[in-house]
Amino acid sequence: MPKQKIVHNPVLLREVLHLLAPKAGESYLDLTAGLGGHAGAILELTRAPKQALLIDRDPEAVKMLKKKFKDIDILQSDFLAASQELVERGKRFDLILADLGVSSLHFEQALRGFSFVRPGPLDMRMDNSQHLTAGEIVNHWDEQKIANLLKNYGEEPKSRAVAAKIVTNRPIHSTDQLAKVVASTYRFRSKTHPATRTFQALRIAVNDELAQIQDSLPLMLQLLEPGGRLAVISFHSLEDRLVKQAFKEAAGQGYEAEIRLLSKKPITAKAEEIALNPRARSAKLRAVAKIKT
Ligand SMILES: C[S@@+](CC[C@H](N)C(=O)[O-])C[C@H]1O[C@@H](n2cnc3c(N)ncnc32)[C@H](O)[C@@H]1O
Repeated sequence: MPKQKIVHNPVLLREVLHLLAPKAGESYLDLTAGLGGHAGAILELTRAPKQALLIDRDPEAVKMLKKKFKDIDILQSDFLAASQELVERGKRFDLILADLGVSSLHFEQALRGFSFVRPGPLDMRMDNSQHLTAGEIVNHWDEQKIANLLKNYGEEPKSRAVAAKIVTNRPIHSTDQLAKVVASTYRFRSKTHPATRTFQALRIAVNDELAQIQDSLPLMLQLLEPGGRLAVISFHSLEDRLVKQAFKEAAGQGYEAEIRLLSKKPITAKAEEIALNPRARSAKLRAVAKIKT
């Protein structure tokens, strides 16, 4: 099969650079380096950083990162395990970025099974050495468990009906087959494809995305040097809620505050960026700085 060309625009790049304000020599940790778009721009500004580490759980992304950044440390790991280890080793960074979710590498490659627009296998693993796939959930989990997953991770209003359709139509082997089954639950078309929520829910479950974020956020704050900045970009309300809550708790009150918020409200993409990159539409950027004392 011919290789698909991956088009990549790092989301909210200008805004990330404005809030992180990288300076020459500062250390940098990218927890979701992906195709290295943000990392490239940040590393240009830090020039010779004291320390730089790029992390991604996807082996294919790591392979591309290694080609692009020859002299930088690159690690294939999920960011929870990596943050735990870095905290244990007493590491600290001036700049930390977590640009959550999936990359164009996932959506644009049919074989990865993330997109219902491109027929592919029901996979959705960011790290393909993991055991659980979307196909396993769709074809082997019981109906109630699937309904709960669709409700909790997809905010699917017809979670029970969609789960029932899935179970009746098993076995389901491909993304397009699943999309059709989900769409058949809906009589009327809306602006977003009815399978969007189901695909989001499956992806979150397969990659354990929310637990990864919730458990990592306090570690990300610990990993900041005094005066260091952390930026997190989320792509749906379930992620953003976790980020907002963790930052609110750490910003606390008066002398107890560990961090200060660099923007009161989340920053979203401007119309020009959305026109070029529709995925930017749902992006929300929050950033904090660690208080020096
Ligand atoms: C939105 S993309 C990042 C794009 C990147 N900022 C760039 O400019 O190319 C998200 C990346 O995070 C990775 N990822 C998602 N969750 C992860 C996790 N829990 N641990 C490590 N990497 C993760 C994905 O594999 C994907 O490559």
